[in-house]
Amino acid sequence: RRKMDMQKKIIIDTDPAMGTKGGDPEDCFAIMMALNSPELEVVGITTVQGNVPVERGYSNAAYLLNEFNSEIPLKAGPSHTFDEERNKERIWLSQREDMEQLTPLLKPEKAKDDAASFIYEKCKQNSGEIELVTIGPLTNIAIALSNYPDLKDHVPKITMMAGAAKTPGNITPSAEFNVWADPEAADVVFTSGIPIVMIPLDVCHQTRMSREELISIGDNPHPFCQFIKEAVDPWINIRTDLISDEGLHLYDSLAMASVISPNLLTYKSAYVRTETAGLLTTGETVCEFNESIMGKILKQKFNAEVALELDVVRFNQLFQERVTGYLRSLKS
Ligand code: RIB
Ligand code: CA
Repeated sequence: RRKMDMQKKIIIDTDPAMGTKGGDPEDCFAIMMALNSPELEVVGITTVQGNVPVERGYSNAAYLLNEFNSEIPLKAGPSHTFDEERNKERIWLSQREDMEQLTPLLKPEKAKDDAASFIYEKCKQNSGEIELVTIGPLTNIAIALSNYPDLKDHVPKITMMAGAAKTPGNITPSAEFNVWADPEAADVVFTSGIPIVMIPLDVCHQTRMSREELISIGDNPHPFCQFIKEAVDPWINIRTDLISDEGLHLYDSLAMASVISPNLLTYKSAYVRTETAGLLTTGETVCEFNESIMGKILKQKFNAEVALELDVVRFNQLFQERVTGYLRSLKS
């Protein structure tokens, strides 16, 4: 694709599971959308624990970049959450080590591949120019902010697929997965002072890739399309069993689309914090939209623009153009 004069520079922080059977593959559609978008220059990709352990996410991202003949730098965060105690409570996390891996498993090197220092160095070198797009738990960003407090002065915006504003959660009744997976990290980011655009479940649940669309990708004999079919099918089956919903919500692709074309969505200013100590509500994103209450009682300024409405038709067009249409057109 033709390079545009005014490309937006971004770093994508992600937990990509396309390549690990049974993981949510959707981050990879968002990355494909970014790689196929002339409006964006992807300066780097950093991987975080979340849908899958971090080395699996790193391996899946490496596979994807290779398929795109891309030399974009790829880095990895730690295997643990910001508050290391969090992982210990969650037994299912260790079960993810048993998942079948389709892509070659690579081992990131701590010294060379460190996500937090990469984010800091790149953002400092290009101060005010690189936006962060986070489509996984916020572990890496919180570590970068805590190791390098001046990072906040170099980042003009964070767009995050995170939270639920006025709608129930998707992993517990009150929490969305990315925030629930590392609530302490999310709160570090919400209170960092960096302007935030939050793409919550409220709008993500209006997006959907149907099983038929997925099958249409698999109809292309190109090896990459066959890989996608094999990688995505188990997740669709899990979703069907769990919540009787065939198809995928395009959460992360919507966050990416909002960076490419912000006016696909309508936003409302809010003061957002994360519940970190709830008995039943840990990971909830508590959003105050009422400026008067906020100013008088909480004495806080708005810290986020929260997307609450979506032009679904235009989003679908963009997704078709940059992702499904592209995949269907690949020639063996
Ligand atoms: O809650 C949705 C988020 O978690 C997305 O980032 C998706 O990848 C899922 O696993
Ligand atoms: Ca994700």
